[in-house]
Amino acid sequence: MGAPESAQRSTAPPPYSGAPGGEVPLPHPAPLRPALLDAAAPLRRTGFLPTRAPLLTLPGPFQAVPDLIPALAGAYAGSGVRPLIREATQAWPADLTRQTEDLTPDERDALLAAAATLMHLYRWAAVPVHPDWFDETPDFPRALEGLFRHLSAARGLPPCGGLYTLKYLNWRSPDVAPGAAYDAATLHAGNVRIARSWHTGEAGEQLDLWLQTFVLAEARGQAVLVAGLDAVQAAHEHDRDALAGALEALHHAVRAVTREINVFTRFHVIRTDLWRVLIQPTFGWGLTEGRTLLEGASGLQLGATQFADLALGVPFSGPLGAALLASRAYLPPEQRALLSAWDAHHGDVRAAVQTWGDSRARDLYGACVQDMERWRVSHRERGAAYLRGDGQPHVMASTGTQFEAGVPHDQAFRDLMTTRVVDTRAQRLTPKEG
Ligand code: HEM
Repeated sequence: MGAPESAQRSTAPPPYSGAPGGEVPLPHPAPLRPALLDAAAPLRRTGFLPTRAPLLTLPGPFQAVPDLIPALAGAYAGSGVRPLIREATQAWPADLTRQTEDLTPDERDALLAAAATLMHLYRWAAVPVHPDWFDETPDFPRALEGLFRHLSAARGLPPCGGLYTLKYLNWRSPDVAPGAAYDAATLHAGNVRIARSWHTGEAGEQLDLWLQTFVLAEARGQAVLVAGLDAVQAAHEHDRDALAGALEALHHAVRAVTREINVFTRFHVIRTDLWRVLIQPTFGWGLTEGRTLLEGASGLQLGATQFADLALGVPFSGPLGAALLASRAYLPPEQRALLSAWDAHHGDVRAAVQTWGDSRARDLYGACVQDMERWRVSHRERGAAYLRGDGQPHVMASTGTQFEAGVPHDQAFRDLMTTRVVDTRAQRLTPKEG
């Protein structure tokens, strides 16, 4: 059972203004538009992770909102959480939403993350998700929905959870104090855990690992961001050594991202038989708002790979390219601003490598493209195994492009992923271009 026709991506993705795939060489590059560097400045230390570590406690009556999440674990794996959420929200102060005006931006982010999680838990009610709930728009408790919509609008986000709210604002680390500024490099496997879990036992461990996968991939993405920006700058300053140096850093950074993801998406770590049944559904949304079908948290919103695509000039063409552009609507405004400022420089690095880069730059650029291509092939193959899962029909509540209440279409997923593999492979430099 798919989503109704009228709900399928009825709004066009935002117009894309980037240069096409790096075909146009820049023999006399214009000075780097400050817009890109300005937009990147606040994000240089943490990439698309929050600039300060997520807060774990909230003042006064607000703490009841995050505290509700772990209390739901038994019911979410059993008879369903809706009555519990309804009852709990009735005890919230009537003016809770109005009181959010007194919170700091980080407190509002933490509250938004908790409210988004509760909305997703209410939307799906229990796992495994009952297929009837796939097309149903639930009657959300007024206090929760009002709070969530208010905070989402104030943050410039659509009214559903995304990677930012459901994952990037829901971790803790013994090495980073909540609310403190930090460097993404501080985060590594072993010192990041989910902050508020809605599962216990084995499902809780799996959820924790799934969250770590994305937080750590995005933490490694910070180095992709910095190296990518350095490469763009070197291209514009016509600096051969700096270009090769930035591409070397970019190559290391892309490798680190792909390694980080692949360590977790091994079948004995994040389990193929449990993922689609217990973990994945909560992150999807799949309800229409106006005429737009809202997605929920999806890999499409990962900054790390978008930075690499922008730096290398991989075009945002085809169905997955269009989905990647459309997914920007789910990013906080400062992240959207960075990507759209980068669009204007999409292809500059490739053009520089082609026209005046030395052989080292050419080799390193080629190595980056190859690593991205390999990761996309491995994501396609591993993803297909996770989608097949235990072989039984389950609600596939995900994400950007697949809304299914039965067995996902393995071949459709493969075909879609192949379009992006082809887009990436097309960036390889031929000897003639070198
Ligand atoms: C393990 C099971 C996984 C499955 C079944 C899966 C499935 C999908 C699907 C269906 C899409 C298309 C867009 C959508 O409908 O959401 C997609 C795209 C994407 N996913 Fe995954 N994914 C998995 C794991 C991951 C992980 C762990 C990451 C990174 C941390 C990731 C990153 C991406 C990215 C970056 C895209 C955009 C396409 C691209 O840039 O090539 N995925 N994935």
